[in-house]
Amino acid sequence: MTQAVYLKFVMVLGVVCMKKFFLIILSSFIFLALTGCGVYEEVNHNANDVREKTKQRIIGILMPKRDSLRWTKDGDNLRYEFEKRGYKVDMQNSENDTQRQQDQLKYMIENGADIIIVAAVDSEALAEVLAEAKTKNIPVIAYDRLIMNTDAVSYYVSFDNKAVGRLLGEYIENTFGLNNGAGNFNVEFFAGSVDDNNARIVNDSLLEVLQPYIDNGQLNIPSGQIDFDQTTIYRWRNEESNKRMGNILENVYGGQTPPDAVICASDSISSGVISALEAYGFRAPDYWPIVTGQDGDVVAARNIITGKQSMTIFKDTRVLSAKCAEMVDDLFNGNIPDINDNMTYDNGEIIVPSYLCQPVVVTKDNFKEVFLDTGYYAPEDVGL
Ligand code: GAL
Repeated sequence: MTQAVYLKFVMVLGVVCMKKFFLIILSSFIFLALTGCGVYEEVNHNANDVREKTKQRIIGILMPKRDSLRWTKDGDNLRYEFEKRGYKVDMQNSENDTQRQQDQLKYMIENGADIIIVAAVDSEALAEVLAEAKTKNIPVIAYDRLIMNTDAVSYYVSFDNKAVGRLLGEYIENTFGLNNGAGNFNVEFFAGSVDDNNARIVNDSLLEVLQPYIDNGQLNIPSGQIDFDQTTIYRWRNEESNKRMGNILENVYGGQTPPDAVICASDSISSGVISALEAYGFRAPDYWPIVTGQDGDVVAARNIITGKQSMTIFKDTRVLSAKCAEMVDDLFNGNIPDINDNMTYDNGEIIVPSYLCQPVVVTKDNFKEVFLDTGYYAPEDVGL
């Protein structure tokens, strides 16, 4: 190769390399620009996430107590329903302490809850604190128990409490064959808590069914205690129902014979009654009264299997919590929540628009279908 040819070769090679170098630089720019965009997008996306999170709505939930499974299940199901819909849940439990619930409520109002769901410990004790919620425009939903004497309650979601009382009464009526004239049954009544609006409603509608049979003597009440003031069990506590049943068995029945039926307004009440009966030496299923209940608590479910309890009025907490979450969705989306009662729940201040779910009677006969087949309880939960 001559020197001239060699020089030409080097020049051509240089030009090619420069082009390549230029191309490499250019493509690097393009690459950086693109990946830069990616980074930007990534950052931007995170910023959106953060923005989403900071405006994530907070649902304040106040539950009354944990000593009966129904309220723990209510809490769990509410959390599930709200978290599933992307809300943030702040749940507090007041262990049946009125002051504590007032404080929890105040805290939620002052600390950014966007909506508050309350199952009141004492239906009459929240009006003052709720006035603050109203000034801050925080909607309040009364959950299961109505909140009295305030216009700060936006909605009430519950079960049809009148139906609960009616179903209890009809169960006694049908089991004894009262409408066929059967009679002379000894029964005792155990009503719900004096500070829970549900308790009187259930009691009144129960007596609407049974009062005629009391009046005509088909039903006797050996204790003579029928007025709500006499039969009420404070805070639905099993210790209280246990004490009262013990007194009645001792002083009225001489500890010898059980009544034919003990009409209990809830499963916590019936569990106290059942242990009093056992303490007096009675054993289910023979020589054992009909014992009723309400809620579908796990203890009651077990007692239905063993025959210590005849029935419960099941209030499916999955249904109630889902309905409550739907109401909240509607409120946030500017829709009017679905209600099915706009006249029954007068809280002394306003008639609270309500959605009432339907309770279901559970006995041994439909136990499997209602509790097991729907997955509310696993067989091992109820001793099967
Ligand atoms: C009531 C409710 C009953 C029962 C009771 C005891 O408010 O209506 O179903 O759960 O509380 O906790």
